[in-house]
Amino acid sequence: MAKLCVALDVDPEKALYFVDLLSSEPVVFKVGPVLFLRGGPGIINGIKEAGREVFLDLKLHDIPNTVGGAVSVAEDMGVDYLTIHTLVGHEAMEEAVRRATRVKLIGVTLLTSHDEGYLSYLRSGFKSIREMVLHLAKTAKEIGLKGVVCSAGEVYEVKKATGLFTVVPGVRVSAHPGDQRRVSTPEEAAELGADMIVMGREIYSSRDPLKVVRYVLKSIGSKRRL
Ligand code: C5P
Repeated sequence: MAKLCVALDVDPEKALYFVDLLSSEPVVFKVGPVLFLRGGPGIINGIKEAGREVFLDLKLHDIPNTVGGAVSVAEDMGVDYLTIHTLVGHEAMEEAVRRATRVKLIGVTLLTSHDEGYLSYLRSGFKSIREMVLHLAKTAKEIGLKGVVCSAGEVYEVKKATGLFTVVPGVRVSAHPGDQRRVSTPEEAAELGADMIVMGREIYSSRDPLKVVRYVLKSIGSKRRL
């Protein structure tokens, strides 16, 4: 069954409120820059003390030495999953893999807020987002990353081609994509092969976050892989 990762893009007090509210549910908590810049290592400790896995989503994109240093710090902090941009290149990913012993390195392929227009922005020779995502995922696999982030639109092929742990954001139960462009429902993402789906605003901005989480867990739990 796919895991549900709740993106806590909120302030530290609110984040810990959600960790407590969702204490009965088998979810992973994602700490991104908004929460980490306010909460620092304390927020990681708070989530770990509640017995939960931490997905630190800082999307590292820097020179190999800096990336490697950041991986070691995350490792020391007991982070379970850590993201790095695959666009950072071979050397930085290789350094990250060298430094990671326990933390699972997850490579971001192309953000789910991008659509085909991003390929023109990059002046990339790839014909489609799918082709580029697949190339980046295969590279991540060759280098030794444990997983990749992609949208539901690519996850079936990515899973088939790499067998990596797949993380799918841009998941919606409502008809409001917000800034996301490549969106899906939780059922679609799970059915297509997501090992973890990520949801933020539709949980933390909901009037009844617990109800949304239970609904999502139920709907992804009943899905068989395609
Ligand atoms: O609020 P929403 O459900 O759109 O949040 C999605 C979360 O997943 C955010 O925390 C965002 O930073 C993260 N994310 C993403 N697309 C990626 C990688 C991570 O939306 N490719």
